[in-house]
Amino acid sequence: MKLENGIQQPGFLLALRFLALVLWSFPGARALDNGLAMTPTMGWLHWERFMCNVDCQEEPDSCISEKLFMQMAELMDSDGWKDVGYEYLCIDDCWMAPKRDSKGRLQADPKRFPGGIQGLANYVHSKGLKLGIYADVGNKTCAGFPGSFGYYDIDAQTFADWGVDLLKFDGCHCDSMEHLENGYKHMSLALNRTGRSIVYSCEWPLYMWPFRKFMPNYTEIRQYCNHWRNFDDVYDSWQSIKNILDWTSSNQKRIIDVAGPGGWNDPDMLVIGNFGLSWDQQVTQMALWAIMAAPLLMSNDLRHISPQAKALLQDKDVIAINQDPLGKQGYRLRKEDNIEVWERPLSDLAWAVAMVNLQEIGGPRFYTISIASLGQGMACIPDCIITQLLPVKRKLGFYQWTSDLKIQINPTGTVLLRLAAN
Ligand code: GLA
Repeated sequence: MKLENGIQQPGFLLALRFLALVLWSFPGARALDNGLAMTPTMGWLHWERFMCNVDCQEEPDSCISEKLFMQMAELMDSDGWKDVGYEYLCIDDCWMAPKRDSKGRLQADPKRFPGGIQGLANYVHSKGLKLGIYADVGNKTCAGFPGSFGYYDIDAQTFADWGVDLLKFDGCHCDSMEHLENGYKHMSLALNRTGRSIVYSCEWPLYMWPFRKFMPNYTEIRQYCNHWRNFDDVYDSWQSIKNILDWTSSNQKRIIDVAGPGGWNDPDMLVIGNFGLSWDQQVTQMALWAIMAAPLLMSNDLRHISPQAKALLQDKDVIAINQDPLGKQGYRLRKEDNIEVWERPLSDLAWAVAMVNLQEIGGPRFYTISIASLGQGMACIPDCIITQLLPVKRKLGFYQWTSDLKIQINPTGTVLLRLAAN
């Protein structure tokens, strides 16, 4: 290989890069065998923004109704969301009628979903999108609608008959560890038996918390679920984003290796485009959700979203990091003096690096890092091109392994970089 400055890249360095590729590509634990979620799921989920608003009299534009989902589907198609990968339009809690039908099947609230879920699925499919739905492993959903306990096979078949493409399976109102585990497994097998491709989004490890003595067996969870929530619900606040990042980095040894094509840790929805995060904090969420190989499920109002938030959510370079086919979850490399450095190995021996400034006083801060400390010493051997992707895209240029990199980061903001072979 000939470098720009005319130096030959020594053979052993090439061999090292090759070895790294082989090691990084080694598959992790076996994934749920449904061929889905080979990269993290992308789409939209109603919960954080619209919650359980069932009052369509008073608030016809923001209640949980087929109209809301049809409007979102329309916009996902026409406003560029689908083109960059946001594909699954997902219903959360509060879509159901309070009782099952005479045959024991779940039914949508007839006033709010007059065309039924099947009608909505048809509409969503006609826009080239997929439809997600919500149910609960226990006796009731978190908001008190009918739970699936005792009805797993009927519910899986009902969702398949309606043309549903994703199930978010919540874990409220489950009385024992045994019921929780068996329920999540049972539903996974029941969905597979329908023969329809349905992404299975679990909250299994999160709901093990009340049964504290049990540690999630992530190898097993990955065999049944396409993604799984580990931690609290995201809120539209910086504190919530910080809590999720803290939990993830504190537990990274246990959770990152199990993530990979077919199964992902789910740190919950993107709240970009809402009310609670500053611009820099929105950048931080987007950058870190890319590093964490997280499902990108936005919860916002696509009818009212700023051009800036839209551009951030539709940033193709950042989405490419999130969707990198190698499927390795990134991790926190270091934390010092209120600066966190995270990194993620990418395909083609490239690396993504995110530097977060957590100091909430003062202005932008400079941080200097030695290139040799990145990517297990291999992000830039013997040199590389560094591109800054966030907060704005710009080429930083050619760096050598021995160089230092000096970066300026806004308070609560993040600089996201991509390091690639020269
Ligand atoms: C739980 C889940 C949330 C949401 C609500 C709905 O809190 O973790 O993501 O689905 O239930 O009631």
